[in-house]
Amino acid sequence: MSSHHTYEHKTYPVKAEIAQNAHINNEQYLALYQQSIEHPETFWAEQAETILDWQKPWEKVMDYDYTQGKISWFEGGKLNVSVNCLDRHLATRGEQMALLWEGDDPAQDKKMTYRELYQEVCQFANVLKAQGVKKGDRVCIYLPMIIEAAAIILACTRIGAVHSIVFGGFSAEALKDRINDSDCKLVVCADEGYRGGKIIPIKATVDKAIASCPCVQSVIVIKNTANPVAWNAERDVWYQQAMAEAAITCEPEWMDAEEPLFILYTSGSTGKPKGLLHTTGGYLLYAAMTHKYIFDYQDGEIYWCTADIGWITGHTYMIYGPLCNGATTLLFEGVPTYPDASRFWQVVDKHKVNIMYTAPTALRALMAQGDQYLENTDRSSLRVLGSVGEPINPEAWEWYYQQVGKENCPIVDTWWQTETGGILITPLPGATELKPSSATRPFFGVKPAILSNEGQVIDDGSEGVLVLERPWPGQARSIYGDHQRFIDTYFKSYPGYYFTGDGARCDERGYYWITGRVDDVINVSGHRMGTAEVESALDEHPLIAESAVVGYPHDIKGQGIYAFVTLHIGIEGNDALRKELVDLVRADIGPIASPDLIQWAQQLPKTRSGKIMRRILRKVAANEIDSLGDTSTLADPEVVEDIIKNRLNK
Ligand code: WTA
Repeated sequence: MSSHHTYEHKTYPVKAEIAQNAHINNEQYLALYQQSIEHPETFWAEQAETILDWQKPWEKVMDYDYTQGKISWFEGGKLNVSVNCLDRHLATRGEQMALLWEGDDPAQDKKMTYRELYQEVCQFANVLKAQGVKKGDRVCIYLPMIIEAAAIILACTRIGAVHSIVFGGFSAEALKDRINDSDCKLVVCADEGYRGGKIIPIKATVDKAIASCPCVQSVIVIKNTANPVAWNAERDVWYQQAMAEAAITCEPEWMDAEEPLFILYTSGSTGKPKGLLHTTGGYLLYAAMTHKYIFDYQDGEIYWCTADIGWITGHTYMIYGPLCNGATTLLFEGVPTYPDASRFWQVVDKHKVNIMYTAPTALRALMAQGDQYLENTDRSSLRVLGSVGEPINPEAWEWYYQQVGKENCPIVDTWWQTETGGILITPLPGATELKPSSATRPFFGVKPAILSNEGQVIDDGSEGVLVLERPWPGQARSIYGDHQRFIDTYFKSYPGYYFTGDGARCDERGYYWITGRVDDVINVSGHRMGTAEVESALDEHPLIAESAVVGYPHDIKGQGIYAFVTLHIGIEGNDALRKELVDLVRADIGPIASPDLIQWAQQLPKTRSGKIMRRILRKVAANEIDSLGDTSTLADPEVVEDIIKNRLNK
């Protein structure tokens, strides 16, 4: 990948016809942004009144104390998320499609109107109640991308149960840890899933996980492939059977704005994954408002976010934001390259998709297959394109813009995180002149800053760490069960700010350029992976003395996983052992964490005090051996020579 600099001065102005018809043009952006910063309480109160339906008004718009990691929005207000996403739309758009579903197999599709979805949600809410699930109880959702997922998520919100969705690609071990950490009472899963033409076991993985989860009382299983699965009649319930017996109305549970909505696990630089806790009112407002303005969603349009429900993008921009806005949202079960690399564009044509939101890794993978896969599709329905999950390199940006969107569609490169709940830095289609690879400007109410490592504000355009000065409604409120970790991770290093873990710079026109993580988190195909998690999986192997994992630039994945492994004395590394290590990581975390490269190292480079010098390993992994930097603190310089000599990414 080439550097940003060749593209830095290339700009794409907003086309007049797009600005005219958009919700927000540039003047409106500037005026509203200013208002949102100068009078945040007035601004957010107005938005909350317009965008959401409340059962009881709030008493205080916002309150916060970052030193205690305390954040609250619309305290005292009451609402229900499913009412906002469903009931209130029935009068005006009951027969409009809420969901379109496209199967892994191109011959399979389904759709569901708002009324049908509403009924399914009420019924499933009754099923949950019949299983003893009450307000505040945690429900784990471990599902492939089937259409029922949306109803299951919203049913939890109907009764005030807190969902914890675990990505269907995580292993039994990873699932077990997440279920136990948040003490889930019930698991919703499927028998099996389809993905890329293959069958993925789901129920079998759940069975294995919950053998060590005393908290789980029942498992609701959706019959999907209908292949036989092991069954425990005391504990397992078929979804279809339970639904057939459930009443079709269910009164919503009115929730305080600050009561929990969901927990979502994500990786940090140290320790085990953390369960970010999001609450009800602020999150929903932020999801809906950002979805509407950032994608410029217009009534009647078909909106497609390609994320999985197991990630925050799937939560906010496939389910909550679109449904709260009464949009038609498309769920896709498959992968971009099955049956072939034209699948995305065929889905666009088939469903007449107007707005598409995907990840740079998918674009790079498709781009690498060649433009012939675009040729037999016309994609003329497309109006706005979005990107998320990792920095988008200029080549992928240009391809998305020129080839996919045929220069008609603005690209919104949206920067955000699981912790932020929704997009914080992004262009708006009708307002923002685009620069490839820049996430451009902050959304309303968002006040970023760039700091030096010492915490000084950087305003000369050079790179530093990205922090945020004050809360926005979608911000996570805690780490489930460990509020101290929430404070320590996000509010300690730069007092008075929320610390993002990302590096960035801000240019003279106020555009932000995100440069990637500054901590030990790597971003593999848009998935966050803690290097410590991968290391602890590797270290379980009895022949391994020590390991260090770093990210390195990867053409398709953005970052690949590079492991330096030291074996016990006398042990020789070979490919069979490499495979054992990969299998171990897959079993412990999942296939997404598999190391791409494993290098045997006699020793790891350490400081005299015994700290692994990851900076050097990163350079070796990136094949940047001419710029190793200061090596004077190394305990034994020969160790580095050996590592350089045997490096794998040449
Ligand atoms: C990275 C995904 C550059 C970033 C929504 C962040 C990005 C992490 C972008 C969060 C972007 C996400 N440009 N980097 N547009 N979007 N990132 O929690 O490093 O899975 O901290 O949330 O992805 O990943 P997460």
